[in-house]
Amino acid sequence: MKQSALSVTLSLALVCTTLAAQPAVNASNVNEGSSSAKHVEGTISDKMVTQAKVKEARMHAKALGGALKAKLQQAIQSGGLEAGVNECQIAAGPIAETLSQNGWTVGRTALKVRNPDNAPDSWEREQLVLFSQLLSTETQDNANPKRPIETYQYNSESGEFRYMMAIEQGQVCMACHGGSITPSVKQTILKHYPNDQATGFELGDLRGAFTLSYTPKSSL
Ligand code: HEC
Repeated sequence: MKQSALSVTLSLALVCTTLAAQPAVNASNVNEGSSSAKHVEGTISDKMVTQAKVKEARMHAKALGGALKAKLQQAIQSGGLEAGVNECQIAAGPIAETLSQNGWTVGRTALKVRNPDNAPDSWEREQLVLFSQLLSTETQDNANPKRPIETYQYNSESGEFRYMMAIEQGQVCMACHGGSITPSVKQTILKHYPNDQATGFELGDLRGAFTLSYTPKSSL
């Protein structure tokens, strides 16, 4: 699809060249940072629309994260990690679908996926690479990147908006995404996801991202 000249795109080049000075792929940095302001073309109203959409997107990402966490905890409490694996497989899709309303589509993606349906497209892949650079200790000079680690793209011609928020590997994730997974859990995972790539993560690694898109009703 043709990219609008007005689209507010946090491009790969922009972030790479400003990575040292601005250690966060962060919407607020883009909007406020004068050093990057020249890269953000578009009218004032484009920027206002973008800011509003970023807020909405954060809300939807939090809702999806909260719902998945609650479901996972429930399943683990009632039937252990294996139940969590089953439950997650059964529930992640429908939960995301329920929360995809009013032009929004919400989901999760990663560079290394468990469910092949979550594989990133090319834009998502680029953003994930940037997120992982931000979180890797080698490129992380001093300060921690500002949270949430997020990025977005707005096409003012089509009204289409895309947003991603990094998901970091936490302690509770180790049992199913870490380096030493209990054999019975591993077995259950492989039964449902024979091509599982989503293991071997360390604490604080980029596990994946929430990925959201908004398409205006008129173009649906
Ligand atoms: C009980 C096991 C279990 C635990 C604990 C768990 N996950 Fe998962 N995770 C899964 C399963 C199963 C899937 C595949 C879900 C699907 O089919 O969409 C998955 C998928 C994901 C995905 C989507 C990308 C992909 O790989 O397909 C992300 C992102 C993710 N998990 C992050 C986390 C994070 C962060 C934590 C800790 C807060 C966590 N998970 C804890 C089992 C688990």
